[in-house]
Amino acid sequence: MKNLILAANWKSNKTVHESTEWLHNFSALLEQHRLNTSCAKIIIAAPYTDLYALKNNTEAFKLPIEIGAQDLSPFAEGAYTGQISARMVKEIAQWVIIGHSERRRYFKETDTSLLEKTVEAKKNGLKIIYCISDISMPVPREVDVVAYEPLWAIGTGKSDTPENANQTVAAIKEKTTIPLALYGGSVAADNVSLLVHTQAIDGVLVGGASLDPDKFFHLIENAITEK
Ligand code: PGA
Repeated sequence: MKNLILAANWKSNKTVHESTEWLHNFSALLEQHRLNTSCAKIIIAAPYTDLYALKNNTEAFKLPIEIGAQDLSPFAEGAYTGQISARMVKEIAQWVIIGHSERRRYFKETDTSLLEKTVEAKKNGLKIIYCISDISMPVPREVDVVAYEPLWAIGTGKSDTPENANQTVAAIKEKTTIPLALYGGSVAADNVSLLVHTQAIDGVLVGGASLDPDKFFHLIENAITEK
């Protein structure tokens, strides 16, 4: 079984209090089911405001979870009101998602600013999950993991078929030469297994189904259990 990347993207959801509660419940499920997650890397990409508490709590509970941000500033720190720089993120997270379609759509992010963010992230030693919704979109060289997320599949309950997703991910890996690629878009406990057991897909990026600790736990269980 390949080493899977199972990444949660909480988007603009969860207060510090709610994220702590999520972690408590998730931790209890891991313990109760004695799930061995050593063949998977579990990442939670949370709002900035949750990251510090998540880092402290995952360390305190010794949870097998890595923390990620969902965006960062294209600039190094300085006079950029409201921006969170890569150096700030680095202290509390190992990962960052760059180029999510919601950032491109609602915040008008362009390939140029996404490249600047990527360069900043890399300079500061953050690992990057870079999202694209089709193979024609450019992917910077510095990216660690590329995530293929077709627009029509995000938040709709209609995921791509494992065959299509695998084919597209294989083509993206070949084109970009980035060795690791995820599929994202309506991944849930009942479809994750077929997706991650394809040849090219190295894991999943999960939105809606990661918000409930129980649902995300079962998704992980199904992903890492050999059928
Ligand atoms: P979804 O979101 O799982 O809710 O479809 C995935 C994503 O946008 O990363």
